[in-house]
Amino acid sequence: MTDLNSLEVQALKEIQSTCEVDALESLRVQYLGKKGVLTEKLKELGKLPKEQRREAGQKINLIKASVQQALEEKKIKLVESAIAEKLKCEALDITLPGRGQSLGSLHPITHTLARIEEYFRRHGFVVEEGPEIEDEFHNFEALNIPDHHPARAMHDTFYFDDKLLLRTHTSSVQIHVMQEQKPPIRIIAPGRVYRCDSDPTHSPMFHQVEGLLVDEQVSFVDLKGIIIEFLQTFFEDENLKIRFRPSYFPFTEPSAEIDIAMANSNSKNTKWLEVMGCGMVHPAVFEKVGVDTNKYSGYAFGLGVERLAMLRYQVNDLRLFFENDLRFLQQFA
Ligand code: FA5
Ligand code: MG
Repeated sequence: MTDLNSLEVQALKEIQSTCEVDALESLRVQYLGKKGVLTEKLKELGKLPKEQRREAGQKINLIKASVQQALEEKKIKLVESAIAEKLKCEALDITLPGRGQSLGSLHPITHTLARIEEYFRRHGFVVEEGPEIEDEFHNFEALNIPDHHPARAMHDTFYFDDKLLLRTHTSSVQIHVMQEQKPPIRIIAPGRVYRCDSDPTHSPMFHQVEGLLVDEQVSFVDLKGIIIEFLQTFFEDENLKIRFRPSYFPFTEPSAEIDIAMANSNSKNTKWLEVMGCGMVHPAVFEKVGVDTNKYSGYAFGLGVERLAMLRYQVNDLRLFFENDLRFLQQFA
């Protein structure tokens, strides 16, 4: 009996001082396994004198139960502390400041183009596109600018070879559209154009939006009306100072260029910035594309997108739009 008591004390002590689940399992095998100490004790009961067997048997079973319980309790403790330990090691340090996501924004020219398109779509104009690499016919010839015409010199054209060039204006799209569609026509054609030109109000690549309306009984009044309303809407200013200045384009007659008073100029000394050219489609152009000039007339305009953006955002050098300096661009976010 004393043997059994010290066995129990011994087993519980070992269980208490164990720190690992594996070692705990070894202890279970050692005491309670098929060949474990307590199992062996039970087997040995037969050797005892009959009157001691019952008491010894009960005693051994009690010890088994208490060892079993100690093992289970210890196991729960070990597993819990293992989880706690793991959580401690794998914890995420959320005190570090995040990297942040910076949001992009539309380029001011993209934004300006969208505003222009939106206005003209609302007035029933359909958006058309043409190629940036053009032939002489669409860029010049069909627009009543024959070879050796002085107007060609005004355009500072980038040529690829004798026939191909980078379009110098979106007026070439007028020709594509009239070759493909019958009047009535009501289109705008936004896009990039190229000229060998560079100063604060000129860049070698810039954007134009062409407008073309061909129908019966179209007059200069229609042109003037829509342009004035467009500019007032675009600049959100009903008192905008607009100037129609008589001008010359081989493909329109009569022709005008339109200037807008710059924000920094006073009434005595107004500084004007040219924003577009326009006029009534020249009969010679209609003849090139087979539109009946007895039945139809039309107006056309070509506006400078960067110029409109310059005025709206009060930017004094339009080349800034293409330098991709984030400090500049972020101001339009
Ligand atoms: C033309 O390009 C004509 N095709 C416009 C036109 C269309 C007239 C239809 C009649 C009928 P102009 O070269 O003036 O015209 O250019 C039109 C506008 O583009 C100018 O008023 C100006 O706002 C802008 N522009 C011209 N050159 C540059 C440049 N290098 N950089 C930025 N904007 C420019
Ligand atoms: Mg001009």
